[in-house]
Amino acid sequence: MDIVLLCGSLRKQSYNRKLLNTIKEHAPSHWTFNEIAIERIPFYNADVEESHVPDVVKALKERMRHADGLIIVSPEYNNGMPAVIKNALDWAASPPQDSPLPKKPIALAGASPQGAGTVQAQTQLRQTLIAIDAYVMSGPKLLVGQVHKRVDIEDERITEEETVKRIKKYVRAFDEWITTFSE
Ligand SMILES: Cc1cc2nc3c(=O)[nH]c(=O)nc-3n(C[C@H](O)[C@H](O)[C@H](O)COP(=O)(O)O)c2cc1C
Repeated sequence: MDIVLLCGSLRKQSYNRKLLNTIKEHAPSHWTFNEIAIERIPFYNADVEESHVPDVVKALKERMRHADGLIIVSPEYNNGMPAVIKNALDWAASPPQDSPLPKKPIALAGASPQGAGTVQAQTQLRQTLIAIDAYVMSGPKLLVGQVHKRVDIEDERITEEETVKRIKKYVRAFDEWITTFSE
């Protein structure tokens, strides 16, 4: 299965990057990964879209189109999703007749040093994805609060046992979610 990944944090020591690495580590062996580097996508502009769709946007849409599923791993900024994620989704969803997102199985995940673990960012993401007819997995939710206590400082992954257990359950559930819609 071809799984496309989007990471909403651009910083090197990102906790969400560590969460994404841990999801990859515990994923079913028949998954292959393709990450989209969203930081190179310009801000959405309908004039630019009309005159010349940037190559990076064309690549984003093609990768999404061929994917069996998408996983969006993102921090929460000011109670919402980061602008880079919203921007990538706005480009992908436009124009609606050429959007790769309708009926696409999508799973959300996020990590935060705060307690609620990106619940508001995920709620906002879900609202946007439902508006563009994606099939967002309803549960199990992967909200990793107090994430700084769950990683080794040197480690590129989350190692805390309870969180790893939740991640394993989450990837199994998403595998089933994708299968449901591919039959
Ligand atoms: C501009 C900004 C706004 C933030 N707002 C929130 C927030 O609303 N909720 C939250 O849980 N954390 C918030 N944080 C803290 C982030 O969760 C924290 O910086 C986290 O480490 C970012 O994810 P990353 O480690 O993957 O880069 C905010 C951080 C920044 C820089």
